[in-house]
Amino acid sequence: MTASINQPKRDPASYDLLIVGTPVWGGKLSSPVRAYLTQVAGKTKRVAYFVTMMGNEDFVTYAAMEKIAGRPLATLSVSQTELKNSTYLNKVNNFVETLRKHLDTDIPMHVKKEQ
Ligand SMILES: Cc1cc2nc3c(=O)[nH]c(=O)nc-3n(C[C@H](O)[C@H](O)[C@H](O)COP(=O)(O)O)c2cc1C
Repeated sequence: MTASINQPKRDPASYDLLIVGTPVWGGKLSSPVRAYLTQVAGKTKRVAYFVTMMGNEDFVTYAAMEKIAGRPLATLSVSQTELKNSTYLNKVNNFVETLRKHLDTDIPMHVKKEQ
């Protein structure tokens, strides 16, 4: 199914890195994000992906994203359990660190561990 989405306002070609996130729906890439990736495919410099989910269908989802918009510099998967117990924070930091190394620049964002 192809979802109907609004025309993206920003041109991904203006950015060094485009980070795209999607929930897993029915074990797959969600239809609105599939539509977005299809629109920006070929216009991006570099991409990274993150996936949120109840279970663990992230591999199928990443494969679909990669097929449409290319190989990511890094990926980040967060399950509902990880979200609830805050273990996702370390994963977010690792994701950002990986991207930072690839870009060789200071990405002005970081996640602090909750006290
Ligand atoms: C229509 C629908 C289908 C979903 N299918 C799956 C699934 O197949 N596997 C899974 O792990 N999570 C599934 N989920 C859970 C979502 O991945 C989860 O709610 C989402 O990642 C959290 O983001 P949200 O706050 O945007 O819902 C589904 C959620 C919806 C609404």
